Amino acid sequence: MQEQFRVAIDVGTTKVCTIITRKRADHRVEVLGIGVAPCNGMVKGVVSNTEAVTAAVKKSVAIAGENARVDVTSAYVGLAGSHIESKNRWTNVPRVDGMRAVTDADLAAAVKAAGNVVLANDRRLLHVIPRSYALDGLHGVRNPLGMHTGELHVESHVITGSISKISELHNAISDAGVRVSSMIVEPLASADAVLTADERDEGAVLIDVGGGTSDIAVYHEGTVVHTASIPVGGFQFSNDLSIAFAIDFAAAEQLKIAHGTAAPELAGRSDEITLYPTRMSQPLVVTKREVGQVLKERTTELFRMIQLKLDEPHLADVPTDRIVFTGGGAKLEGFLNIAKFIFQRKVRLANPRGLDGMPEGTNDPSYSAATSMALWGMRNLSSENHVSERRVASTATHGANVQTSSTSTGALAVIRSWLPKRERNVETTREKETAGA
Ligand SMILES: Nc1ncnc2c1ncn2[C@@H]1O[C@H](COP(=O)(O)OP(=O)(O)OP(=O)(O)O)[C@@H](O)[C@H]1O
Ligand SMILES: [Mg+2]
Repeated sequence: MQEQFRVAIDVGTTKVCTIITRKRADHRVEVLGIGVAPCNGMVKGVVSNTEAVTAAVKKSVAIAGENARVDVTSAYVGLAGSHIESKNRWTNVPRVDGMRAVTDADLAAAVKAAGNVVLANDRRLLHVIPRSYALDGLHGVRNPLGMHTGELHVESHVITGSISKISELHNAISDAGVRVSSMIVEPLASADAVLTADERDEGAVLIDVGGGTSDIAVYHEGTVVHTASIPVGGFQFSNDLSIAFAIDFAAAEQLKIAHGTAAPELAGRSDEITLYPTRMSQPLVVTKREVGQVLKERTTELFRMIQLKLDEPHLADVPTDRIVFTGGGAKLEGFLNIAKFIFQRKVRLANPRGLDGMPEGTNDPSYSAATSMALWGMRNLSSENHVSERRVASTATHGANVQTSSTSTGALAVIRSWLPKRERNVETTREKETAGA
């Protein structure tokens, strides 16, 4: 089998993460290099400063390429943010010849018919995901191939995005010298590295709490049935602390990561922290509990917004009693305690999985989006290679390079500095299915 190399770039609100992967002969997908670069060119999931995004992409791609010893030529790029909209719709599939068996051509026609939507100015169709079919009015058929019917209707999940916002991101990546081979709607791919097969089938809500947005994807019967985005992420949590204690944003961010909790009632009263407010000459001593009060309010507010997004008529029959959080923002201490209390459902924090050879310390919720895209793209998109063959080293050398990079590069120092102080609810069960099979 010819080796397949795929590169995924997640342009997040706080960082750009590039993952270079390779599909091995045994069909497992392994990581050859990861590059992370801080980025301040995005606001709430959309480009606000093209040059800053381009510079961060360049840096992140260079680090990943150096680790993997390849030149990145093209990549999958993630799309997220509130300009991504989705709808579920039923469509009649035009067919000739009356009563006959459903063929592959009918299924292709179903996707075409479902995607035939009237788009507002500046909107572009991104994905059409057939969910189920109705055969002569009989609903709930998942695979109608070969079944006889006169009328065929398809229920599909249709995702659109803003043309201008997509091209801004596209241009920022192209300016970094990387060709965009496909843009992938992140919530659509995110299940691949985060949910278990059971969760995807039986129903689960996946929420990626990033720096600037919280992206929601509801899965049922193996496909995505609902996507939504809330323009609130870790940034707002830190910003609240910055305002409440009159400290600058960087200090607030540090305070949140080192001492923050969304469950102040679990923090000791005597846990004291010294702050240096910008407008005070004296230091300010606060307790972890006081810091937690501010964060708990923001967490509660975010969860209420999530509840509202899940309160959709078409989700009434979808079991959403499992909530899986991922993304850096969900690493906040006490986050899951409050989630359990407010949602009254099973909750867990997920690390990305499904890729072999993640360098030590990178198995972190912040990398779920990039990991998912690499896996999803490998499974669902064309077989074009994303790295230049010119410098691709031999199979044996690749493994060695990953190891070297994981211990010696500055990239890993950056990654480590963002890691949680302790592991919480680490997802240990490895998905048994073979990646990319
Ligand atoms: N231990 C921690 N406790 C609380 N928050 C944390 C922790 N570690 C990271 N974060 C927060 O996670 C956020 C970054 O998460 P992530 O890397 O998933 O975002 P992103 O992908 O850059 O942004 P987005 O997905 O919104 O575009 C930051 O706001 C950061 O403060
Ligand atoms: Mg993200």
